[in-house]
Amino acid sequence: MKLILAPMEGLVDAHMRNLLTRDGAFDSCVTEFLRISDKLLPNKAFHRICPEALLNDWKTPSGTPVHLQLLGSHPELMAQNARRGALLGAPVIDVNFGCPSKTVNLNRGGSVLLQDPEDIYQILLAMRQDMPAHVPLTAKMRLGYEDKALAIENAQAIEAAGASELCIHARTKVEGYKPPAHWQWIAKIKQHVKLPVVANGEIWNLKDYEECRQLSECDNIMLGRGAVANPQLASLIKHKNHSTLQAPYDWVARLEDLLWMISSTMEAGNVKYAADRIKQWLAYLKILYPQAETLFLEVKRFKKSEDMILKLKDEIASAS
Ligand SMILES: Cc1cc2nc3c(=O)[nH]c(=O)nc-3n(C[C@H](O)[C@H](O)[C@H](O)COP(=O)(O)O)c2cc1C
Repeated sequence: MKLILAPMEGLVDAHMRNLLTRDGAFDSCVTEFLRISDKLLPNKAFHRICPEALLNDWKTPSGTPVHLQLLGSHPELMAQNARRGALLGAPVIDVNFGCPSKTVNLNRGGSVLLQDPEDIYQILLAMRQDMPAHVPLTAKMRLGYEDKALAIENAQAIEAAGASELCIHARTKVEGYKPPAHWQWIAKIKQHVKLPVVANGEIWNLKDYEECRQLSECDNIMLGRGAVANPQLASLIKHKNHSTLQAPYDWVARLEDLLWMISSTMEAGNVKYAADRIKQWLAYLKILYPQAETLFLEVKRFKKSEDMILKLKDEIASAS
């Protein structure tokens, strides 16, 4: 059973991938989506979405492979960009058929394509035909757009086009991120395809993981918000470490992660939004750490990253 870190646009960038994969519990991770709208993108666009490509041959510093995710609907353009990604060394090219964003969907990208399995087939087929044969093509879908009527047909289209793995976020676009995730639907789909299936959605702890595995009958698992809220989740799952699970969560370690994150984001030149990234992460950490809620309220109006750094240093000094 492989564990995969989910692609999360605006949240899981190279810095977060570095942090969340450093204990080696994830088998792979995926970039935020690279939007393909009207042209073959220059190499620098690929390197911007995946700095690890140049720094460490498409691996995080701990050696976890980073797959490239593309989002778009024009078969020829998707194929050209997939080919370029593959030639730049991407170990796997993944396609996003799950994004619920209004703007993305209006431009016929993401989950809106689930209304038309033939379009999905044509996109992936063109990509498969243009990509070097040794680079796997994978897809990530939701159960549907408005309802689940085409879930099986979409999965079959993905398989028929030559994808070698399918990740299913077990909700429709309309269901958004509202619990529950319908893990049993993954088992239903699996009866109709042969390719390995990754289950995704609403795994926050070891119990969810076990239940999802059982109900979905999946081959592999992808963790998203659960891993951001609890950076130890993948490791707990991998090592089935119940004793660590019951141990108090180490807030000082998280504060140090936050400080590392903001410093590293600033060093990479993204001074402007470094503080916002910290607020965003705190909003997830507060699910597990009550201290994160208090800190979030204290820093939510901070604009300057330097102020955020001082505050985090103060917190570490008083908490340790
Ligand atoms: C902030 C955010 C950004 C996301 N960005 C992407 C993305 O770029 N590509 C993608 O395929 N899915 C994206 N997703 C969906 C996640 O990969 C995942 O399918 C979803 O969060 C459900 O898994 P979870 O319940 O474990 O979080 C995003 C989700 C969130 C919350």
